[in-house]
Amino acid sequence: MMPSERTKGAGAPVAVDISTLEPGTLLTVEWRGKPTWILHRTAEMLQLLEKYEEKLRDPKSEVPQQPAYCKNPTRSIKPEFLVAVGICTHLGCVPTYRKEIAPADLGPEWPGGFFCPCHGSKFDLAGRVYKNVPAPTNLVIPRHGYLSDTRLIIGTDDKK
Ligand code: FES
Repeated sequence: MMPSERTKGAGAPVAVDISTLEPGTLLTVEWRGKPTWILHRTAEMLQLLEKYEEKLRDPKSEVPQQPAYCKNPTRSIKPEFLVAVGICTHLGCVPTYRKEIAPADLGPEWPGGFFCPCHGSKFDLAGRVYKNVPAPTNLVIPRHGYLSDTRLIIGTDDKK
């Protein structure tokens, strides 16, 4: 039986079919009334994650903004799939997905990430916050797991 909209709003886990999510594409689903992202990272995106750690405030995810099994360099269970709550840790706006490398407005060193236009916070493609922006911490990674290779569940890690 599928959970009702009301039950989902109250926090029931949400199952998501990721079989058609192309590499480089972001899918937004609602979980606990919050936009929650699933990003299918490309091999190139994963390689870039290692290249600019000195610019990040918490590159090793020391602040517990993720379950213990996502305290790793990609902040994920499977490196290619990032699951993150799409709410800026400054004042709660929804950052935009800016996967382009070096766009004019974000500068020549932008390797792709998430940008919050409200007050200029920047996060990388693992949801790690940059230094010198208003957001204090990395984006939240919710508990999640895999029901199969193509089905993800957000809100529980029974099937991790
Ligand atoms: S809410 Fe994102 S920078 Fe302020």
